[in-house]
Amino acid sequence: MTPSRVPLIAGNWKMNGLAGDGVALAADLAGRMSGAAEPGFEMLLCPSFTLLRAVAEAIAGSGLALGGQDCHAQEKGAHTGEVSAAMLADAGCGFVIVGHSERRTDHAETDAQVRAKAAAAQGAGLIAVVCIGETEAERDAERTLEVMRTQVAGSLPDGATAANTVIAYEPVWAIGTGRTPTAAEVQEVHAFIRERLAEGMAAAEAAATRILYGGSMKPSNAAEFLALADVDGGLIGGASLQADDFWAIPQALPGA
Ligand code: PGA
Repeated sequence: MTPSRVPLIAGNWKMNGLAGDGVALAADLAGRMSGAAEPGFEMLLCPSFTLLRAVAEAIAGSGLALGGQDCHAQEKGAHTGEVSAAMLADAGCGFVIVGHSERRTDHAETDAQVRAKAAAAQGAGLIAVVCIGETEAERDAERTLEVMRTQVAGSLPDGATAANTVIAYEPVWAIGTGRTPTAAEVQEVHAFIRERLAEGMAAAEAAATRILYGGSMKPSNAAEFLALADVDGGLIGGASLQADDFWAIPQALPGA
């Protein structure tokens, strides 16, 4: 982690939370964030679309950021059931997750579609959290770095910069399973991703782009991952649904 890369601790609520518990969780975290003098990290909540406005109100003025879990590649139009990046910005979002492995799997999203979504996000003034990661079969076949090369090259739009893009490295087999790569494996992949970023953007932009680790990050293992040189935060699912657990993660940052 270099000083230019402010750590980002992002919570992906997935399809969890109704107004009662979602707003209570957001308000609890907003209170903790407001009480933190110069926190030295950014914290992002990504609830379901239906909770965005209520959560935006609950966290207003706290310093917490809000994001969507997906957006459509088009600005508007006849796409029933979809949500555009501009709609997310309008609801108070500063970020949007694109290319999460559950979207890639459940909706057969391709790198090209993820790239189009990231471009739409950036066009609407949002920071795109672009998710990449290998499957268990790919890791077993020792294809992890090759897959990362393909996904980085295919999922990032031409206008990607450190200011409008965050990468989340999430090994598919580590998501929601309690299993994780070793710290050395995570660092190897993150360093490799950063090298690949430098092929598509200026070296200084690649050096300043935040790369998050995601996949069963929790209070008990966060310190190990967050201490790694090329890990600039986390994308957290299960452990982001409970205020004590989620708040414990930035407390595990080096120097916290
Ligand atoms: P998990 O999910 O922390 O529950 O493994 C992470 C994610 O899918 O972003």
